[in-house]
Amino acid sequence: MTGVPRALARAFPDEVEYHRDDPTVITTPTERILVPTPIRAVVRILKEIDPEPTFNVVDLGCGDGRFVIAAAYLYGCTGVGVDIRPDVLKVARNKAEELGVGDRVEFIEEDVRNVNPEDLNPDVVYMYLMPSLLAEIRDDLLKADALVISNLFPVPGLRADREIRLDEFRKAYVYDLRG
Ligand SMILES: C[S@@+](CC[C@H](N)C(=O)[O-])C[C@H]1O[C@@H](n2cnc3c(N)ncnc32)[C@H](O)[C@@H]1O
Repeated sequence: MTGVPRALARAFPDEVEYHRDDPTVITTPTERILVPTPIRAVVRILKEIDPEPTFNVVDLGCGDGRFVIAAAYLYGCTGVGVDIRPDVLKVARNKAEELGVGDRVEFIEEDVRNVNPEDLNPDVVYMYLMPSLLAEIRDDLLKADALVISNLFPVPGLRADREIRLDEFRKAYVYDLRG
């Protein structure tokens, strides 16, 4: 995998299915599957934005934490991941420890609709969320005073300052909402 450090590629495979700890809990297949940003796309986006080590990177709907963990691992950033699912947050905390950045990132179990991004002091906000949810949190994003990146789906009602092409089909939308 070109450009992706081996430790990150090993920690974050492209296809992941996280099972709840308790096998007796009955879930639908979609509840057990996480669709992450491919780690090569994470590395590519980070390279494009080139964060300072002083940056605090927030992922709203962080899944296994790969974006904030990679920012900490590659650029020395601090990070906060928010997700509604305790099972993926447990994976995220374990991965952060495994990669030696557990002291620089934290993970919060919460619905992003109940979080004011501004309170997390972000320099960068990353999201890979459905358009309906992006629309719901848009007004709070505008107050965050941060570089906002949305993978795959543009934020409804906002004009992107630039786009990062990730492959033939995918791009990330970048909104500079600083100052
Ligand atoms: C497509 S995955 C992306 C995960 C990660 N950001 C990445 O790019 O690899 C979306 C994540 O958002 C979380 N999510 C969906 N709706 C949410 C909500 N209302 N509040 C918090 N997290 C949510 C899901 O649990 C899932 O982990």
